[in-house]
Amino acid sequence: MFLPIYIYGQPVLRAVAKDITPDFPGLSELLDNMRDTMLRSDGIGLAAPQIGKSIRLVVVDLDVLSEDMPAYKDYKKVFINGHILETNEEYDSMEEGCLSLPGIHEKVSRSTRIRLSYLDENFEAHEEWVEGYLARVIQHEFDHLEGRLFIDHISNLRKQMIKNKLNAMVKGKVRCSYKVKTIK
Ligand code: NI
Repeated sequence: MFLPIYIYGQPVLRAVAKDITPDFPGLSELLDNMRDTMLRSDGIGLAAPQIGKSIRLVVVDLDVLSEDMPAYKDYKKVFINGHILETNEEYDSMEEGCLSLPGIHEKVSRSTRIRLSYLDENFEAHEEWVEGYLARVIQHEFDHLEGRLFIDHISNLRKQMIKNKLNAMVKGKVRCSYKVKTIK
């Protein structure tokens, strides 16, 4: 089932999301719906706040990139109660976009390696270092769990340049191919 994507201006995108427990009602259905939503909106990652839920769930699907990056063939993963524990101090810069900010693409500097903790779908705990493009995607998605958006990382000048687009979103003027929920 496709869930509408919450758009910039929605307070849930600015809230710190909470950990969940294995008895969270309807969890596997929710994860299925999140994967469905990500797939149908051509996203490579989706965090629960983007569908209006302030809980620490992230789904990632990098398989679509595997033509250019073969290492990500069949890379589909769920991160429950994810937290970033450590980041290295080497950075690279790359253009990012976000389903909650349609039409905006900006270069964002991120750590090239991060250490994270999370639970898988069986609620088994993992702790690992990831790097490269995956490290970027996870930082972007886990930012959502802290109430941060990728535009928080760009310069004031760039923020100024996208101000009108952001204001339009807050007023409910959004053009994209998937169903959304704006604040107005
Ligand atoms: Ni995003």
